[in-house]
Amino acid sequence: MTRPPSAPVAHTPPGRSSGAPGAAFSRITGTGSYLPPRRLTNNDMVEMLAARGIETSDEWIVERTGIRARHFADDGVNASDLALPAARDALESAGRTASDVDLIIVATSTPDMVFPSTASILQHKLGVHGCAAFDLQAVCSGFVYALTVADSMVRSGSARCALVVGTEVFSRILDFNDRTTCVLFGDGAGAVLLEASATPGILAADLHADGRHLGILCTPGTVAGGQVSGTPLLKMDGPAVFKLAVGVLESAARAVLEKAGRSESDLDWLIPHQANIRIMQGTARKLKLPLEKLVATVDEHGNTSAASVPLALDVAVKSGRVKRGDTVMLEGVGGGFTWGAVLFDY
Ligand code: UT7
Repeated sequence: MTRPPSAPVAHTPPGRSSGAPGAAFSRITGTGSYLPPRRLTNNDMVEMLAARGIETSDEWIVERTGIRARHFADDGVNASDLALPAARDALESAGRTASDVDLIIVATSTPDMVFPSTASILQHKLGVHGCAAFDLQAVCSGFVYALTVADSMVRSGSARCALVVGTEVFSRILDFNDRTTCVLFGDGAGAVLLEASATPGILAADLHADGRHLGILCTPGTVAGGQVSGTPLLKMDGPAVFKLAVGVLESAARAVLEKAGRSESDLDWLIPHQANIRIMQGTARKLKLPLEKLVATVDEHGNTSAASVPLALDVAVKSGRVKRGDTVMLEGVGGGFTWGAVLFDY
């Protein structure tokens, strides 16, 4: 995954017909996002849980997580339905149309169906056909994994214009009788367009998984014999995940900087997985980054799993904070246990 800017280029894919001759890198040319309109504040969650005889409070949720609101998709609205407007937004911001796309990767743990992939469904909804499309499942690290795979495919020449999407309807797998998890998650989608480029955009990536910890964050149910077998609802040992997340977010950040030949002081923005403001601020502090360089949208989105990083990136781009030329680090962490980081010049 590593290629410092000065390193020799092993393979030169053909440039876009419109330019980028000798393209050897990939670059994010557009970002997009979409949130379903139904917004629930913490007090809405307090009411919803009270009806089930379960106690929670705005104070607890804000103090422990930084979350103030989340969005839930209406019944019948699926991951591909959220992905579609996010994808169109990314295409429009890059000045491209769906027919320019030759690769679609969708990161999701809440796909529309067992198969076909949400990526194939999204391709159909975009009104195009023929390009490669597949889903990637790495839970809350999914977008960082998907961007890394897309970067590799663009740099190898097997794709020139990749649509990379993170989309989730986590509200479908929440246990509303479990206050330790149901107040944390939300629904949404984020997308980027990644195109072949003669100058580096993606600088380096660092991905990991450790299956020994698969039980601390899982939705263990599956479909067998025409029935759901096992629990189809999310289960999390929050404190165990918290402890692991704090360590791996720091190590992945340092590793990806080293691979790219950059240092913490080169970073303009840190956009970590949006699960808990305490984890995010802790990571920024360990990297000695001023908190102004941390992009945090967890307050308004909650934890949207694979959608959280591209959603936060798009919010930061559209609000004018992340600008062309800025150096940005994305980080994911979650079920698997998986984690990783991608460093890029925007
Ligand atoms: O997306 C993948 C990555 N996920 C994460 O990074 C999540 C990581 N974990 C966390 O963010 C935190 O561990 C949580 C936010 C999930 C929990 O925060 P915590 O500070 O670790 O709290 P805790 O689980 O240790 O629980 C503390 C107390 C408990 O009560 P007792 O046993 O001390 O009496 C819980 O029962 O808070 C109680 N509690 C609640 N109280 C009110 C747990 N959930 C709630 C709630 N409302 N919703």
